Amino acid sequence: MKILLTGATGQVGWELARTLMPVGEVVAVDRSQADLADLKALRAIIQQHQPDVIVNPAAYTAVDKAETERDLAFLINAEAPGVLAEEAKKIGALLVHYSTDYVFDGTKNALYTEEDSTNPINVYGQSKLAGEQTIQSVAGDYLILRTSWVYANRGNNFLKTILRLAAEREELKIVADQIGSPTWARLIAETTAHILRQTLLERQGGSFNSNVYHLTSSGDTSWHGFAQKIVEIIREQGKMALKNKAIHPIPTTDYPLPAKRPANSRLSTNRLEHQFGLTLPSWDNALRLCMQELD
Ligand SMILES: NC(=O)c1ccc[n+]([C@@H]2O[C@H](COP(=O)([O-])OP(=O)(O)OC[C@H]3O[C@@H](n4cnc5c(N)ncnc54)[C@H](OP(=O)(O)O)[C@@H]3O)[C@@H](O)[C@H]2O)c1
Repeated sequence: MKILLTGATGQVGWELARTLMPVGEVVAVDRSQADLADLKALRAIIQQHQPDVIVNPAAYTAVDKAETERDLAFLINAEAPGVLAEEAKKIGALLVHYSTDYVFDGTKNALYTEEDSTNPINVYGQSKLAGEQTIQSVAGDYLILRTSWVYANRGNNFLKTILRLAAEREELKIVADQIGSPTWARLIAETTAHILRQTLLERQGGSFNSNVYHLTSSGDTSWHGFAQKIVEIIREQGKMALKNKAIHPIPTTDYPLPAKRPANSRLSTNRLEHQFGLTLPSWDNALRLCMQELD
């Protein structure tokens, strides 16, 4: 079983390179070995390796920059996944691809299910939705896993930002009117490994159906609640000196950014939990475990 993994330097890719090891031989490639912006070279890599599975966490993830780099975002997030899907289909491989809560507009007053209509409100979300649609139109074997608010102890993410700011500043102002489920990159990778194992058995038995699944932690919070929990855990751990004394909730309108964000990013994971017999942990339990590994 050969697994070709893209984006090996990313938050999710780095974890996948480790957690997929018992599932098969992992060939992990980074941007220097497989540039998703070079579609011809991307085809050649797949033809060279002939994997049984392609796992694609690589993506253009600069949400604000995407507003002014639309073509590049679509090339990496929509056209490249289409090439992966086409090449996977040619060699009978399964494609595992990641997508985002930002395919929704955030106006629903409840958890989003996979059946809900998409309506992205920023270029990044549009490019990721186009990627999903391209993969679906190729109609090979695929799993599309939509996740949200990804963090890890490495890479650029909200956890790392708050750790830095809480050490430097007495007061922070954090957006409190966007809600979602912070999701540890390792949880995404480990859940992917379980899903992949079952999917490979289903494919052998001829009972596999391609589908879209939501993969996030359970429960939800705001960015403000996420920041408060991070600082609470740092205090409990006593590993780091903090200047921070207060975290003030602010509305999105007080923190304008180039790309709009959905107010409600909550995704229902019922389909995934039911199909694969899994239980996704609450976001704060996972955060605590992640932060135990901080130096
Ligand atoms: N981060 C989030 O909050 C979030 C939320 C929802 C969904 N997602 C989705 O989850 C997946 C994993 O995200 P993540 O948080 O792990 O992202 P990340 O940490 O930003 O990593 C992105 C990876 O993609 C690689 N990449 C970017 N452009 C590339 C190119 N042209 N060719 C090859 N590789 C390229 C990056 O390589 P370099 O290291 O060389 O830049 C990096 O390894 C993505 O599909 C993302 O859209 C993420």
